[in-house]
Amino acid sequence: AEEVTYNWEVNYMSGAPDCMEKEDIIGINGQFPGPTINARAGDNVVVYLTNKLHDDGVVIHWHGIRQLKTPWADGTAAISQCPIKIGETFKYNFTVEKAGTYFYHGHLGMQRSAGLYGMLIVDVEEGKKEPFHYDGEFSLLLSDWWHTSIKDQEHDLNAVPMNWIGEAQSLLLNGKGQYNCTLAVPANSKGANGLPGCKFTGNEQCAPNILDVEPGKTYRLRVASTTALAALNVAIESHNMMMVEADGNYLQPFWVKDFDIYSGESYSVIFRTHTRSSNNYWISVGIRGRDPTKTARGLAMLHYKSTKVSKRPMHHPPTTHRWNDYAYSKSFSNKIFALTGSPTPPVNYDHRIFLLNTQNYFEGQTKWAINNVSLMLTDTPYLGSIRYGLTGSFDQNSPPLTYPDTYDITKPPPNPNCTVSSAVYTLEFGKTYDVILQNADMLKAGDGEIHPWHLHGHDFWVLGYGEGKFSKKDEKNLNLENPPLRNTAVVFPGGWTALRFMTDNPGVWAFHCHIEPHLHMGMGVIFAEGVHLVRKIPDEALSCGDTGKMLMSQNHN
Ligand code: C2O
Ligand code: CU
Repeated sequence: AEEVTYNWEVNYMSGAPDCMEKEDIIGINGQFPGPTINARAGDNVVVYLTNKLHDDGVVIHWHGIRQLKTPWADGTAAISQCPIKIGETFKYNFTVEKAGTYFYHGHLGMQRSAGLYGMLIVDVEEGKKEPFHYDGEFSLLLSDWWHTSIKDQEHDLNAVPMNWIGEAQSLLLNGKGQYNCTLAVPANSKGANGLPGCKFTGNEQCAPNILDVEPGKTYRLRVASTTALAALNVAIESHNMMMVEADGNYLQPFWVKDFDIYSGESYSVIFRTHTRSSNNYWISVGIRGRDPTKTARGLAMLHYKSTKVSKRPMHHPPTTHRWNDYAYSKSFSNKIFALTGSPTPPVNYDHRIFLLNTQNYFEGQTKWAINNVSLMLTDTPYLGSIRYGLTGSFDQNSPPLTYPDTYDITKPPPNPNCTVSSAVYTLEFGKTYDVILQNADMLKAGDGEIHPWHLHGHDFWVLGYGEGKFSKKDEKNLNLENPPLRNTAVVFPGGWTALRFMTDNPGVWAFHCHIEPHLHMGMGVIFAEGVHLVRKIPDEALSCGDTGKMLMSQNHN
């Protein structure tokens, strides 16, 4: 194992990722998206992160990396560390223990939406092999893009009544999209949506991604989604794909024509190029789960080296399946199983927590609540306040482990109001926990949304998805044989999702909806496990709030 070191400065920059100039993009070393981290399983990754923003703190979360023994390096503001102060440098130092496709992103306010993200790719150890073969690989980091700044978005979301941010202006693939033109038609015509064909001289920031392939070869495409809002679907024209990896875990391979990907998820697919081709082909990314009419699909091109790169693909890009066909989404989710030989879950659980997802109000603000509690972080990072017993730093009540039996998930909440709290779920260390996510109607009757839930510090087994309210009869249908291990799982409108994990990683871990505005509106919980076992937490992670005061007084003594 080696040590790979990066020196990064986080700064505001301007740019035109979707051909429209924008200020206040958060980049790294003047780059958007941030640089890709490349490492091998077992390596130590060191990132010296300097905050060059002039008006805000910053942190970076390494999404999918479990941070075994380094919970303070998880990069969650107010949870694992203090925001890095303006002008200061923080040293992240952690082991990437498992090969796979990951990404990183800001985890303070809505900084992720401002562009603070990049890929994190972990290869197998030197001399080891993946359980599938490929000749070359590509990666695509997917995101959605608004022309309004996150400051305005945060302000609008907090307003009474709330001013919803609306749908994204563009979809970006590796930070490139097209807002005022479409690649789907030639330069001098008009697309079905009225957009003119794009004209590029070649040097535009928003010129499409081109993936150069040779005929008759096998490629691995790594795809991760860091969208603020959108659920996406990915297709490659005229090429089937074999799903082989999800969130850094191997899958029992299966073939698809297209696949859904939710925010917080990553996949690897394998595709074979045609043995002979004088064409190029579209890679198409469209929206599912939300009405896509306001956001044009994202496109990239698969370029066969056997033909000219300037040659337009012969056919129209693949159309994305109808956005509200949830049966289609569910059938995909239900095809995902762990590769034979993967770790299986304990057959029994020690504790089970039910988490009801509802939309509510608090003092007129629109919130998302879990068992009627909406999460509000405090100034002191929990990891420090719990480790050092600073009980005044956050709400000491235990949040509810379930919701009332009589709750009707097919109706809006009978009491539209929720409470707001910084309380923590204290999990017993070394146990098996089940979490049953239960979706319910929003404030408006008949409305429901997909929520992709992401757990820090762990992978969990996805034991199953179901319709309606989880009940005894669903128990026997849980998959204990070959459930996939993941760090993100979706709960569909009007349904439930069952997860199982082990509390084997001392630390304080967020578990939240990966939709950025939903998290901002309180859609998350905090799990604390075995915090007394946490060794040294660097002072720099604690230099704010009550832990900051604690350090000061120690230094004076
Ligand atoms: Cu990728 Cu807590 O997030
Ligand atoms: Cu959500």
